[in-house]
Amino acid sequence: MTYQPGRHFLQIPGPSNVPDRILRAMDRPTIDHRGPEFQAMAKRVLAGIKTIFQTTNPVIIYPASGTGAWEAALVNTLSPGDLVLMSETGQFASLWKKLAERVGLKTEFLPGDWRHGADPAAIGERLAADTDHRIKAVCVVHNETSTGCVSPVAEVRKAIDAARHPALFMVDTISSLGSLDYRHDTWGVDVTVGGSQKGLMLPPGLSFNAVSDKAIAASKSAGLARSYWAWDEMLEMNANGFFPFTPATNLLYGLEAAIEMLHEEGLDAVFARHRRHGAATRAAVEAWGLEVLCADPAQHSGVLTAVMMPGGKGADALRKTILSRFDMSLGAGLAKLADKVFRIGHLGDFNDLTLIGTLGGVEMGLQAAGVPHRKGGVDAAMAVLAAAASGSEARQAAE
Ligand SMILES: Cc1ncc(COP(=O)(O)O)c(C=O)c1O
Repeated sequence: MTYQPGRHFLQIPGPSNVPDRILRAMDRPTIDHRGPEFQAMAKRVLAGIKTIFQTTNPVIIYPASGTGAWEAALVNTLSPGDLVLMSETGQFASLWKKLAERVGLKTEFLPGDWRHGADPAAIGERLAADTDHRIKAVCVVHNETSTGCVSPVAEVRKAIDAARHPALFMVDTISSLGSLDYRHDTWGVDVTVGGSQKGLMLPPGLSFNAVSDKAIAASKSAGLARSYWAWDEMLEMNANGFFPFTPATNLLYGLEAAIEMLHEEGLDAVFARHRRHGAATRAAVEAWGLEVLCADPAQHSGVLTAVMMPGGKGADALRKTILSRFDMSLGAGLAKLADKVFRIGHLGDFNDLTLIGTLGGVEMGLQAAGVPHRKGGVDAAMAVLAAAASGSEARQAAE
C-alpha cells in the first residue's frame, strides 16, 4: 500500500464518516459497567436516545448491528407461525422478510418494483380484507438503503387505522434515524428499529428498538424463543442505568456525543441539511443526463441517491475507477441492482463542501471511466446549495 494523502471519502450510505468529536469521545478507558460512573452515563444516554426517536417510551440498546434489532423486534412481539405483512421496497425489506421466515414467522410480501417506497393504499386494502386478523404485524423500511426511496410511515399508520386493524406496526429506520424526520410516538409506531452507523455518525455496533406500550404488552404473551434479545430483563435493568450483559461501553460514550451534536445543530436543521443535500445531488444527476432510481419525487431520500447507469455501462467499473483515482467509496448496487446502479451517500457528518467534493469525484469518475454524460452536475448542485443558503439568510433577516 502507498500512502494516500487527504481523507478517504466514505460516501457509501452507511457506515458514514465518524466525526473526530465522536472518535475522541470513544477514546477513553472502558469503565466498570456495574459502577456508578457507568450508571450515570447510561441514564443520560438512555434518556437522550429517546429524543432522537421522538418518543417518551423506552429505547432498548443492543451491542449488535441493525440486523440484531430487526430480529429483536420480531421475536419479542410475535409467536411461531404468525403472519407478517411486508412491502417489497428493495433489498433491505427482502432481508428482513428472510429473517422473519428464519425465526419461524409466515410472511406476505406486497410486491414492489424497487423504485418506490411502501404503498399505504395497498397495505390498507390488504388489512381491510384480513377480517379475521391473521396478520399480526405490518413491517416497513422507512429509508430503503438499496434504492433511495422513503416510505410514507405516517400514511401507513393512517391506513392501518382506517382498516381498523390491530396489527403491530414496525418500522426500520436503520438508515434514516438522525437524518430524516422520524416520529415514533406521533406516527404511532410500535417497534422502531435503528442502527448506529448512519445518521448517528457512530461506528457500526449498536442497534435499537424503540417500543410502544402496545408492543411491550404484546411481548408478555409472545411465543417466539428469545433470550439475548429479550426486552423484559433489559427494561428492568435499564430503569436503573444498567444492562443484563456487558454493554458496548465505548460506543455508548460515542452515542452520548452524537446525541449532543444532533441537538446542538437542532434536529430540524439536521433534517433540512439532508433534504438540501438530496436535492442538490439530484440536480447534479439530472445535469449529467443520468436517472435517479427512485421514481417518485415525493419519496426521494435525503440520505442517499441511487443513480442508474446509462446504456449498459457497469456501475462497479465506475466505482472502481473512482476508488482508485480519487480515494472515494460509493455504494454498490445490491442484489438485482448489482452493477446497474451506484449509490451516493450524503448522510451523517456531511456538509455542503463534502457534497461538492463527492459530486466532483463522481463527475471526474464518469469522465475517466468513459460513461456517457453531460458536464455541469457540480454547477447544478452548487446552484441548489446557493439558493438554499440565500433562502435561509432571507428567513433569518425576516425574523
Ligand atoms: C435499511 C437497512 N436495514 C437494515 C440494515 C441491516 O443492518 P446491519 O447491516 O447493521 O445489520 C441496513 C444496513 O445497511 C439498512 O440500511
